[in-house]
Amino acid sequence: MKIAVTGGTGTLGARVVAELARRGHDVGALSRTAPAALPTGARHHAVDLVTGAGLDDALRGVEVVVDASNGPPNGADDVLVGGTRRLLAAERAAGVRHHVGVSIVGIGDVPMGYYRTKVAQEEEIVRGEVPWTILRATQFHDLVAMLFGATSRYRVLPGFRALLQPVAVDEVAVAVADLAVGSPRLGREEIVGPEVVELRDLARSWRAHTGRRAMVVPGRLPGGLGRALRRGGLTDRAAPARGTTTFAAWLEHPT
Ligand SMILES: NC(=O)c1ccc[n+]([C@@H]2O[C@H](COP(=O)([O-])OP(=O)(O)OC[C@H]3O[C@@H](n4cnc5c(N)ncnc54)[C@H](OP(=O)(O)O)[C@@H]3O)[C@@H](O)[C@H]2O)c1
Repeated sequence: MKIAVTGGTGTLGARVVAELARRGHDVGALSRTAPAALPTGARHHAVDLVTGAGLDDALRGVEVVVDASNGPPNGADDVLVGGTRRLLAAERAAGVRHHVGVSIVGIGDVPMGYYRTKVAQEEEIVRGEVPWTILRATQFHDLVAMLFGATSRYRVLPGFRALLQPVAVDEVAVAVADLAVGSPRLGREEIVGPEVVELRDLARSWRAHTGRRAMVVPGRLPGGLGRALRRGGLTDRAAPARGTTTFAAWLEHPT
């Protein structure tokens, strides 16, 4: 199949491109900047979702689009909402028959600006004219480790009460690839990590693994955001699809 992956050079997108190429598909990785290398069977197309530049050429003959693009945490609207609108219009013109969107577990229940943007992005997909599937994932192990790496520069790690269920991005990429080669579900699927864990315990695992000297700072985030995180708004213990790699195992063998 001819499949385009927008954001195909990002944390998730690059893995999706690799997984689809490994399965023998003709894969386009779409992003603004070409990567240093791509797997055999994949090509890069320069595309800007904010302006729409490059989209028509990149989607010629494409049957399925996986959108794994992302924008900066403050101001992701242009890429995720406006970009989705532009992408879907170009997909319709090109005759794409399946759009696979990537989203986040719990976005409707956790009041954060970025999550409101993700809700708006999902709405664009649902009311768009291209048959669709949305895969909601929990936080990637990479993101959690990146957060700890950033705050540890100040010798602190966040230990406020929050439940997370992080997942290995490789396992999410396989789930995305499975959906991409199937029929549009016109619905949302989920993939979550193997365990629901307090943020402070993830911080302690990260500190033990890296040997960094940093204090895990306890606390309670105020307001609705704090309440939502404490009650596990970003987790789903009942999700049928579950990764198997724990955060501690991933730290030993990050991929
Ligand atoms: N990270 C997580 O923990 C997590 C968890 C669940 C779901 N998700 C979702 O998964 C998706 C991918 O996230 P990620 O963390 O893998 O993203 P990422 O690593 O930040 O990658 C973003 C990708 O988007 C491309 N991009 C950015 N601006 C663009 C533009 N204007 N036009 C075209 N391409 C653009 C980037 O390439 P260029 O900069 O070269 O354009 C890059 O390939 C997002 O929808 C995110 O909400 C993420």
